[in-house]
Amino acid sequence: MEKKLKTQKISISKSSPDMNILNAAAKLINDGQLVAFPTETVYGLGADAFNANAVQTIFSVKQRPSTDPLIVHIDSINALSTVAINIPELALALANRFWPGPLTLILEKHLNLPHAVTAGGKSVAVRMPDHQIALMLIESSGCPIAAPSANRFSRPSPTQADHVWNDLHGKISMILDSGPTDIGLESTVLDLTKSPPCILRPGGISLDQLKNIVPDVQIRNSYLTENNQKQISPGQLFKHYSPDAQLFVFRGASPENVIFAMYTHMEKLLNNKQSVGVMLVEENIDFFQKLYQKGGLIENLGSIHYLDRVAKNLFACMRNLDSAMVDIILMAMPPDNGLGLAINDRLIRASSEVVWIE
Ligand code: TXA
Ligand code: MG
Repeated sequence: MEKKLKTQKISISKSSPDMNILNAAAKLINDGQLVAFPTETVYGLGADAFNANAVQTIFSVKQRPSTDPLIVHIDSINALSTVAINIPELALALANRFWPGPLTLILEKHLNLPHAVTAGGKSVAVRMPDHQIALMLIESSGCPIAAPSANRFSRPSPTQADHVWNDLHGKISMILDSGPTDIGLESTVLDLTKSPPCILRPGGISLDQLKNIVPDVQIRNSYLTENNQKQISPGQLFKHYSPDAQLFVFRGASPENVIFAMYTHMEKLLNNKQSVGVMLVEENIDFFQKLYQKGGLIENLGSIHYLDRVAKNLFACMRNLDSAMVDIILMAMPPDNGLGLAINDRLIRASSEVVWIE
């Protein structure tokens, strides 16, 4: 049986971090322990990237399949050459433009890096996070930090330290808490070992931002077929980011029709005595008041005009509805532009069904 650890959750200020706390966290990393820390995207679950045993623990604690490789976090562009080799000029151009920031680059792996980090593969995912605490933790530890999102496998990624606590307390040594993360969705993963480069996961850096530097960038096939059915390609689409409740996402050419259909569906479910929550942009909340009075739960994602706020709230809203023990969650997909592409990627992956409204 796994040993139960006493997990310390410690508040740390982002603007003036207490060095004693950072040094204690760094010592744990150097001792092969796991420390959850904030980044600008989501909380990460960190281990010394060069300590194969510590990296293995990440997989067991998260219940993550050993075939799914981790991202290595570094604190400077210079450190790239300690984890990757044959680094193309394009990688440096992207790093100079977007780091620190939510862009992960897939490059050729350095031989010194343990296989556990890359799930046995020859490529490595690397990024430099845009968060003072993350950068200082890497610096104080004196090693790159391998870290997936700090959730239990398949749960929504943690955007608050409490989310990490709920999923992993008793299994990790420390959680550094510096409040909710800014972006709320994970980094964009860009494969530079392919030509042309290919986005494997849309995220905090948008397609348009990347096109400025990589005009021929490709994007991996959508999870939807031409008939808007969710397609499952083995190995690629683990059920991910999911709430415990069943999630139905609604999509269609006319936003009014989509909202109306979602309303009708929710009303029917409530009439059948099911417990239902809906995640709504602010603009649609009034319209759902009657269903709120019938016992439907509403989570406010923020304004449709600020997709960055919708992104920031998305996973927390899912977790709130899970805590309220609803059976079913509904949400309409925002447009695909900007962060919308990343939001919709997570929604499709988390969903039980994508409902297409003509
Ligand atoms: O924003 C983020 O990226 C957060 C924070 C903590 O940095 N991390 C994160 O890690 O989301 P994780 O492990 O939850 O997601 C990493 C993604 C996975 O989809 C994984 O398959 C992919 O990156 N990945 C990692 N290494 C790869 C590689 N060598 N080749 C292709 N994909 C890789
Ligand atoms: Mg993850």
